[in-house]
Amino acid sequence: MSKKYAELTLDGVTHSYPIIQSTQGENAIDISTLLRDTGHITLDRGYVNTGSCTSAITYLDGKEGILNYRGYAIDDLAENCSFVEVAYLLLHDDLPNLEQLNDFRELMSTYALIHEDMIHFFDHFPPNASPMSILSTMVNSLHNFYPEMSTHPEPFESFDNVTTRLLAKVRTIAAFSYKKSLGHPLIYPRYDLNYCENFLNMMFDKPTKPYTILPEVVSALNKLLILHADHEQNCSTSTVRLVGSAGVNLYASIAAGINALWGPLHGGAAQAVVEMLEGIYADDMDFEKYIRKAKDSNDGFRLTGFGHRVYKTFDPRATIIKKACDETLAALNVDDPLLDIAKELEDRVRSDDYFVSRNLYPNVDFYSGIIYRAMGIPTDMFTVMFALGRLPGWIAHWREMNSDEERRIGRPRQLYIGYPAKKYIPLDER
Ligand code: CMC
Repeated sequence: MSKKYAELTLDGVTHSYPIIQSTQGENAIDISTLLRDTGHITLDRGYVNTGSCTSAITYLDGKEGILNYRGYAIDDLAENCSFVEVAYLLLHDDLPNLEQLNDFRELMSTYALIHEDMIHFFDHFPPNASPMSILSTMVNSLHNFYPEMSTHPEPFESFDNVTTRLLAKVRTIAAFSYKKSLGHPLIYPRYDLNYCENFLNMMFDKPTKPYTILPEVVSALNKLLILHADHEQNCSTSTVRLVGSAGVNLYASIAAGINALWGPLHGGAAQAVVEMLEGIYADDMDFEKYIRKAKDSNDGFRLTGFGHRVYKTFDPRATIIKKACDETLAALNVDDPLLDIAKELEDRVRSDDYFVSRNLYPNVDFYSGIIYRAMGIPTDMFTVMFALGRLPGWIAHWREMNSDEERRIGRPRQLYIGYPAKKYIPLDER
């Protein structure tokens, strides 16, 4: 196929830039020589239109509402796979066969404990410390305890050790931080439980009241983790890549991603949604007040759980989560007024021209918090749950970036709008 070029004419001179073909979706104009050719940079606030890398992990079509991991549709994966299978898929090229899956699971069990010295770290956070701050601190510290291979992902066969260690330990850290926040004894991971069962057991089992692991809860958690497992170049994943591009080790890069995820515009949204729905409930269901505020450009308030940078139609993950929310609450016999409020709010938003004209649909965070509530997960841990799910995606992107022979340190440009050069004035003359 002959190469295509885009032309840019500036000050009467025409420059050509090669079009790089994707395997699916948008192609890209390679403008890497633009500055050298023209003395200009591009300005693209929030990277709305800027590709920072090539990637073979996730395909997302925001107009059609399509999300595929390594070619597989998200609904197929959410319906049929375990989270561990999907983690393997993201980190390798394809789904595992039975033997590969069993080996991967075995490694996960092998690495599920955290070094006992790390457990002392939990004792030194204030009682109201944010679980996200604890998580990023603990993940950063993992490099001191497990430095092997965390600076470069080769040889690839051995990288499964690093991946499973991180996946298993983050799950343990998340559950331990909850137990510590309650002042309860820690419940250790068990060999006989699968990934989701183990997490739920570590969270909720007590010496005084054994926890019953319900298949409905395991299935809902499994689905939520799969749906969060990757989403191409979002804020936290791009952070992992950017930090990692400086040669930073895996754990520190992932800790940076955890911090980026914390924000209410990103992974913190599920918690913000539940708090917003509780606010509407406490406010005598005054939906119109919240909708009015969200539409007022002078009011910073937004309807959290609506809108997405890339999706301009239904977020396919939100559609699956809404259905799972109904199923899980029914199976657990939970009657949560927040679910009715969420549905009513969605109906009102979907018939309001402000939201319709801006393509603001419910996103992945709109219904997920209601499922977590039904499982007994506290609101301030919702973003930790997102991090657990997103972990394989972050690791896969860190690995892909580090294995890319054309990688370069991430270094955006800026358009300077400060003072032109000024003459220095000595202190006694100012
Ligand atoms: N409520 C009210 N108005 C909104 C909302 C909202 N949730 N989202 C976007 N808008 C309006 C915005 O005011 C703007 O209007 P106008 O054109 O009149 O200025 C227009 O829609 C476009 O918004 P934008 O801020 O330019 O869009 P963005 O792509 O920069 O931001 C977003 C995307 C997700 C940050 C934004 O939609 C938002 O703040 N949503 C609420 C927070 C949220 O739910 N975040 C979770 C996102 S999904 C999980 C994840 O990937 O992290």
